[in-house]
Amino acid sequence: MIMINKKISRSRFIKKTAAGAAFINLGTLGVTAARIKYSPGSERIQLKEAGPMIPPVPAILLTVNGLEEGKDEISVVWTFVVEGKPPQIGISVADYHVAQKMIEKHGEFVLNVPVESIVEEFDRVDMNSGKIADKFKLSGLTRVKASKVSAPAIKESPIHVECKVTQTIVAPPQRKIFIADVLATTVLENVCDENGRLMVDNTPFFGMTSGSGEFYIMGRKVGYIGKSIGRTDIKY
Ligand SMILES: Cc1cc2nc3c(=O)[nH]c(=O)nc-3n(C[C@H](O)[C@H](O)[C@H](O)COP(=O)(O)O)c2cc1C
Repeated sequence: MIMINKKISRSRFIKKTAAGAAFINLGTLGVTAARIKYSPGSERIQLKEAGPMIPPVPAILLTVNGLEEGKDEISVVWTFVVEGKPPQIGISVADYHVAQKMIEKHGEFVLNVPVESIVEEFDRVDMNSGKIADKFKLSGLTRVKASKVSAPAIKESPIHVECKVTQTIVAPPQRKIFIADVLATTVLENVCDENGRLMVDNTPFFGMTSGSGEFYIMGRKVGYIGKSIGRTDIKY
C-alpha cells in the first residue's frame, strides 16, 4: 500500500512512488465506469486519411486588434497549454487567416472561452471572414476591453485569457505557431470558487471532437488529477 504524505511536492512524491503508482488501476479506486456504451472490436483499422483525431480539442475564440484602427478580428483557434506555472499557451494560426498578421503586429491577443449559449455565434465566427466585414457585427458578439493587454475581448465569454506572444514558430506548409505568456485571466462571477478553482458544473464550455467536427459540453466527472494516489489538491 502506498502511504500518502500530502506535504511533499507532487514531483517528489512521484519519484518516491513511481513504480507502485504506475500500476494502480483507476477502476479499483471507485472512479465511476463510463456510461457511454464502449465496445470496440479487437481489429485496428488504418483510416484512409491521417488526421489529428485527438478529441476533444479546445477550440477557443481569439480576439486581436486589427491592422487598422477599428478592424479587430475574432477567429476560432485550436489551443494547447505549454506550461501551467508560469502560465504559457500556444496557438496555431493559418497564413491565409487575417488574424496571423494582426498577432504579429500587436504581439497580444485574448483567448475567450466559448460556452453553450454562444455556440451559434461561435460558428458564425468560423463561417464568416474578416476579409468581408467586421466579425463582431457578423457574429453578434460584444466587444469589451481586456484588463492587461490592448487586444479586445468578448463580453459573452466567461473566461478571458490575456496573452502576450514570446515566440513565433513557422510551421510549413501554412501555419505559424505563437507561444505566449498569460498575463491575466479574468472570469465572470460564479465561474470560479473563492480559491480560483473552475466550477465546471456552472460553466457549459465545450470542446470540438477532432475526428467528427462536433461541439460537446462536458458530461460527467470520471476522475481527477491525483485520484490514483489519494490527492485532491492538484489544480493545473
Ligand atoms: C473548431 C475550429 C478550430 C479552428 N482552429 C483554427 C486554428 O487553430 N487556426 C486557424 O488558423 N484557423 C482555425 N479555424 C478556422 C478559422 O478560425 C476560421 O475559418 C476563421 O473564421 C477565419 O477567419 P478569417 O477569414 O477572417 O481569417 C478553426 C475553426 C474551427 C471551427
